[in-house]
Amino acid sequence: MKKFRFVLVGSGNVASTYIKAVSNVPELEIVGVVSRSGKSPAGGEDLPVYTELEAVDIEFDAVILATPNGCHHDGCMSAAALGKHVFTEKTLALTREDMDEMIRVCKEKSLQLGVAFQRRTAPDNIIVRNMIAKGELGRVVGCELTVNFWRPQSYYDNSNYRGNLKLDGGGPFVQQASHNIDLYVWFFGLPEELHAFTGTFLHKMEGEDYGAAICRHRDGMIGTIIASTASKPGFDAVMTIHTEKGTLVLEGDRITSWQIEDMPNPSAEPAKELHSGAATNAVTSTIGHEILLKDFAEKCINGGKLIVSGEDARAASELILRIYGK
Ligand SMILES: NC(=O)c1ccc[n+]([C@@H]2O[C@H](COP(=O)([O-])OP(=O)(O)OC[C@H]3O[C@@H](n4cnc5c(N)ncnc54)[C@H](O)[C@@H]3O)[C@@H](O)[C@H]2O)c1
Repeated sequence: MKKFRFVLVGSGNVASTYIKAVSNVPELEIVGVVSRSGKSPAGGEDLPVYTELEAVDIEFDAVILATPNGCHHDGCMSAAALGKHVFTEKTLALTREDMDEMIRVCKEKSLQLGVAFQRRTAPDNIIVRNMIAKGELGRVVGCELTVNFWRPQSYYDNSNYRGNLKLDGGGPFVQQASHNIDLYVWFFGLPEELHAFTGTFLHKMEGEDYGAAICRHRDGMIGTIIASTASKPGFDAVMTIHTEKGTLVLEGDRITSWQIEDMPNPSAEPAKELHSGAATNAVTSTIGHEILLKDFAEKCINGGKLIVSGEDARAASELILRIYGK
């Protein structure tokens, strides 16, 4: 059977996650790496390395963009110009204009644009999302999302871009909490009104290391979103949802409290844990990436809607841009 072939762009932390994830899916393979420095990602030392995508002289079907947030737009444009499908790491891009161009160009060229918001593959997140969408929990009153992570100063210092505005796009709202903000907009949609405060307290960096947003939705629901990399020693992300039928808590992608009247806890008891991210950026489980990549390859071949498309991922960035007052 012919495998679906990826070229991996980037050779850092998350690039090695892709080496591992793809090796676990028999239908997929990585055939080459693009790295400006000529460096191989951990685990991918045998792959041919190119310094730019245009120089790749082997056949491939799609790129995986494992470069900083501010590089995703250019990487997508280069791949689309070569007629290749694009699977990009989150966040999609750092401006509305860049995101819209990525979505438009891929659509015009009939290319798939997938985004690695892997928390949408976690069974308990899917269950809660479907119950809200079907109205099974009644009216949603409010949601408190807290992403209280910790990163030492060395996390920012050991990189030429982490926490900066041009390439990372800011601090924990755009970087660590973007996954949870993606779940928030997937569950509840974008708010009508938003007020936010951000500050930089414990780190030397351009972006924020702590902030809070309060949102009001069209139906009156009130949401609060906290994002932090200044919360020692780092805690799992928690989403508490208050509804007409009762309250539930999602913690690290699992339902950890189910106080909903007359309904048994529907928790799927996920087979494998997703990565928590509370105190490290190393992706410890690749199961979410594997599900998204397999879905992406199938839809590139046969067409159809991706689990997380560019349009889907744009909503989280839209909310984050509003939090940043942009
Ligand atoms: N889905 C997840 O759970 C998850 C986890 C971690 C990171 N990420 C995302 O993956 C992407 C990469 O993150 P990472 O942790 O692998 O970063 P990293 O710094 O470890 O690696 C970035 C790679 O991009 C390359 N690069 C290309 N252009 C660059 C430039 N102009 N400046 C700096 N580096 C450049 C670097 O050489 C390096 O190979 C980011 O978009 C991040 O948001 C996602």
